[in-house]
Amino acid sequence: MNDFISNMSIKTCPFLWDQIHFSSTGEVMFCCVYYYAVNAPQAPLSINNEELFTTLMQIRQQTLSALKNGADGDFCTGCPEIIEIHKPVANTSDNAVANWKVNTLLFGTGTVCNLDCIYCSTKKIALTPWREREKNVKRAIDFVRYLQAMNVIDTTTNAVLGSGEITVHPLRAEILQLFTENPCKFLINAVEYSTEVENVLKNGKSRINVSIDSGTPDTYRQIKGGGDYFRTLDNIRRYSRFANITDLKYILLPGTNDDTTNLDGFLDFAKEIGANVILSRDFNGIEAFEQKLEEAEKAIEHFVENAKKRGISHFMSGNMSIGERKEKVRRP
Ligand SMILES: C[S@@+](CC[C@H](N)C(=O)[O-])C[C@H]1O[C@@H](n2cnc3c(N)ncnc32)[C@H](O)[C@@H]1O
Ligand code: SF4
Ligand code: SF4
Repeated sequence: MNDFISNMSIKTCPFLWDQIHFSSTGEVMFCCVYYYAVNAPQAPLSINNEELFTTLMQIRQQTLSALKNGADGDFCTGCPEIIEIHKPVANTSDNAVANWKVNTLLFGTGTVCNLDCIYCSTKKIALTPWREREKNVKRAIDFVRYLQAMNVIDTTTNAVLGSGEITVHPLRAEILQLFTENPCKFLINAVEYSTEVENVLKNGKSRINVSIDSGTPDTYRQIKGGGDYFRTLDNIRRYSRFANITDLKYILLPGTNDDTTNLDGFLDFAKEIGANVILSRDFNGIEAFEQKLEEAEKAIEHFVENAKKRGISHFMSGNMSIGERKEKVRRP
C-alpha cells in the first residue's frame, strides 16, 4: 500500500507529530527549538492531567491544521522548522492526530547542575527557587505516568534526559524509574557517577552524550567552570561500558579550544573508548564564532581529518553549517 499521495504538498512541523518536551521552566510543548523566538504551542504543567492533555491535543491539532492550510495560526509564525512535504497519510490524517503517540520525549524539567559551562544558559533557570522547580518535576513525573497509562508513551518512546544534569538531580531515581525499559539518551557532563543512570544503561538500548569540549585539563576547567577532567574521563569510561552508544561532543569555541593539542587530546580519548564524536558550536555565540571564522575553519578541517585518520565516526551538529543565517541555527 502506498502511504503517500505524491502530488499533494503540505506545510507541517515534524515535532508536532510525535515529540513532547517538558521544558526546564515548567511548560509542556512539542519542540525545544525556537520557542524563544516564535510562539511555540505550549501548555503549563500547573493545570491538571486531563486539562493538560486536552489542551495539548487541541493546540497540536489547531497548529497542524493551520500549517497545513498555509494560514498563519496563533502559533509557530515564521518558524524555520516548518517544512514542506508530500503528504504522508499516516502522519497527517485526522486519525493520526487523534491517536497521538510520542516517539521522542525530552525531559528537561527542574534544571540542576554541578558545572558552569561558559556557553550554557542553564544557570539563569537555576536561579528560580528549588521549591518551584521541584513542584514542576513532580508534576512532569505525574503527567508522564498519565500518558503512559493512556499508551501515548510506551517503552518504545525515546527518552532524552538533558537540560541540567540528571546524574546529580535530587529526583533522578523517580525520574529514571519512568524509563527503565526505554531507549534513553543521557546528555550528561559525567563529573559524577550515577548508579541510577548505570541501571538504565543496562537495558541495552540506551546511550550517553557528553560534551567535553576540550582535550586538556586546563581548557576543560576554563570552559566547564568546574569538575575534574581526569575523573570525568574515568566516569565516561565506566558509563560507556554499559551504554549502547557513546557520543562525545566538542563545542568549538575559536580562541579557546581550537588548538591542535585540545582537538587531538579529545580525539585520542574518543578513539580509546570507541566513541563517536560530534562537532558543534555555541548557539548563543554565533557572532563571536563568525568573527573568528578562519580559525574555526582550520580547526574543523583538523578535527575531520584527524577523526578520519583515527577511524572515528564523526558528525557535524546541525548548527555547524558556516554562513547560515542566525535564525537558522539549530540546537544539537
Ligand atoms: C544544556 S546541556 C544539559 C545536559 C548536560 N548537563 C550536558 O552538559 O550534556 C545539553 C546539551 O546542550 C549543549 N549546549 C548547552 N549550551 C549550549 C550552547 N550555548 N550551544 C551549543 N550547545 C549547547 C551541551 O553541550 C549539552 O550537550
Ligand atoms: S513549527 Fe517551530 S515553534 Fe512550532 S512546534 Fe514546530 S519547531 Fe516548535
Ligand atoms: S553541564 Fe550541561 S547543564 Fe551544566 S552548565 Fe554545562 S552544558 Fe549546562
